[in-house]
Amino acid sequence: MPMWEGRFSKKIDKRTNDFNSSIRFDHKMYKEDIEGSIAHAKMLSKQKIIEKEDELKIINGLNSILEDLESGSLEFDPNAEDIHMFIESELTKRIGKSGKKLHTARSRNDQVALDIRMYLKKNIIEIKGNIKKLILTLLDKAKENTETIMPGYTHMQRAQPITFAHHLMAYVEMFKRDMQRLDETYERVNVCPIGSCALAGTTYPLDREFEAKELGFSKITNNSIDGVSDRDFVIELLSDISIIMMHLSRISEEIVLWSSWEFKFVELDDSFSTGSSIMPQKKNPDIVELIRGKTGRVYGSLMAMLTVMKGTPLAYNKDMQEDKELIFDAIDTVNLSLTTIEPLIKTMSVLKENMKTAAEKGFINATDCADYLVEKGLPFRDAYKIVGNIVKYCIEHNTTLEKLDIETYKQFNTAFDEDIYSAINLINCVNKRNVFGGPAKEQVEKQIELARSEFI
Ligand code: ARG
Repeated sequence: MPMWEGRFSKKIDKRTNDFNSSIRFDHKMYKEDIEGSIAHAKMLSKQKIIEKEDELKIINGLNSILEDLESGSLEFDPNAEDIHMFIESELTKRIGKSGKKLHTARSRNDQVALDIRMYLKKNIIEIKGNIKKLILTLLDKAKENTETIMPGYTHMQRAQPITFAHHLMAYVEMFKRDMQRLDETYERVNVCPIGSCALAGTTYPLDREFEAKELGFSKITNNSIDGVSDRDFVIELLSDISIIMMHLSRISEEIVLWSSWEFKFVELDDSFSTGSSIMPQKKNPDIVELIRGKTGRVYGSLMAMLTVMKGTPLAYNKDMQEDKELIFDAIDTVNLSLTTIEPLIKTMSVLKENMKTAAEKGFINATDCADYLVEKGLPFRDAYKIVGNIVKYCIEHNTTLEKLDIETYKQFNTAFDEDIYSAINLINCVNKRNVFGGPAKEQVEKQIELARSEFI
């Protein structure tokens, strides 16, 4: 029988109960629910709202439930309405009258808001740990490739020479921002709503600060209505996770391209690739494709949660129960994606020669050729036009800037001399881009060390 049976003269319809029940997913918060209840019992007894004896019985009872759930000797009752009801009724089964005192000055509305905040705090730390591991792997890969010349692209057209290290370091920046965003979200999750009760606080003399401190929160909520009806922090975390997935999806897309025969810039390790059921030659990058696909699912959860909240009047409404499946799924998805792509990147071979060959085609040193003329005293716009003509000539004569002889160069402009060849040498082109944040070996090594010092 549900705890609210007093008001009702009929048993709940099974379909209604199944529809209403959240235990099949909110059981994930059993630890937080128990920890929260222990702190609540301590506070109630400290404030003389319940007896010390009741407090001790409640704490022992809750600890025994925790042990039994962890050992598997107690199973979640699928007919319970939610994890909060399940634990409270199990407690009363075990310790009797004292168990019925636990819910004094508390509502499931502030209880669920508390549990979800505690659960998210732990998970934010876990996600950050997984991002950190990925960053360290990217830094190792970058360190090995500070001289690996590759074409940098705009519009998917070869644009200017960079190194593979420089390219990977762009992702390190994205993941560093992701960690900062998680830290900022953590601050707003780290606010304790307990004591808001159903919506209007309580007449009991609570010590909200004490309970919050017991549970490791840095602040308490300021308004009891907001305390139970705020799910901004769930939306914020979904948004943070969506951005992480977007970054993972971008690198996944690049790995799909790079491992194609058209690029062949990288080769995935056999243990992180899959085959085809019909085409014997195939080696497919399913894992990164799946990460790209799952990004859509996480965006869906963010949109769903924004939509759930947009029409809910204050304060608590049952719509808000939808938050859990959405955020739990997003957390599982981002953790799985992070922990799968990390070893995939670690074990992936970089085909440096192929990157270099690609860099040698596509005139990616044309800007450097123009800069050379600028150094010789020409205005940039004139130099730009001259080099445009040279590129056109090279395309028509199926040659490259490197292979063009000096006589031909001189026909385009007399300022050209033998030193043009060193000016357009790809390694020199990269290393001359020695501006802070640029691809020169010196700069990238500096960035690798800076990032590493943040994480070790
Ligand atoms: N299972 C509910 C949820 O997740 C807990 C709060 C229910 N409160 C209520 N008054 N029905 O939101």
